[in-house]
Amino acid sequence: MHEKSIELLNKAISDELYAVHQYMYFHFHCEDQDYEFLSGLFIKTAIEEMGHIELCAERVLFLGGEVEMIAAMEVQKIHDVKEMLKLSRQMEEDSAKDYNKWANESSANSDAATRKVFEGLVDDEERHFDQYDTEMVNIEKFGERYLALQSIEGSRIRASGPTE
Ligand SMILES: [Fe+2]
Ligand SMILES: [Fe+2]
Repeated sequence: MHEKSIELLNKAISDELYAVHQYMYFHFHCEDQDYEFLSGLFIKTAIEEMGHIELCAERVLFLGGEVEMIAAMEVQKIHDVKEMLKLSRQMEEDSAKDYNKWANESSANSDAATRKVFEGLVDDEERHFDQYDTEMVNIEKFGERYLALQSIEGSRIRASGPTE
C-alpha cells in the first residue's frame, strides 16, 4: 500500500547521499584553496543533507520498507569555485522541484505524513539554493576580489592561532 511512498523516499535518499558526497568534496577543495567561508558553507549544508537522509529513512522504516543506501551519482571532480556553486545551485533547484512533485504524489496516495516530510525538505532546499545563489552573485559582482578576501580571512584566522 505504501510502496510508492517507500520508492519516492528511497529516491530522495539517493539524491541526498550524492549531495552529501558532492558537498563534502567541495568542502575539502575549498579548504585546500583557503576559501574559509565557502568551505564552511559546504560542510554545514552536507550535514543538513545528512539530516534529510535520516528523516526519509525513518519514514521508510515506519512504512515497513528497506532503506536503500545508493548514491544517485558519482562525485563530479570540480575544483573551480564558480563551477562548484553553479552545480550546487542546480542540485538544490532540482531537489526542490522533485520534492514538490513527490509531496503532491504522496498526497494523491493518501500519505499525508510522507507529504509533510517532502514539504519540510522543500523549505530546506530552497534555503540552500538561496545561500549558494548569494555566493554566486557575490563572486559575479566582485570577482576574484571576493575570493581573495576569503583567503585573507583564512590566513588571519590561522595566524591568530588556536582559539582555546
Ligand atoms: Fe536535502
Ligand atoms: Fe540541499
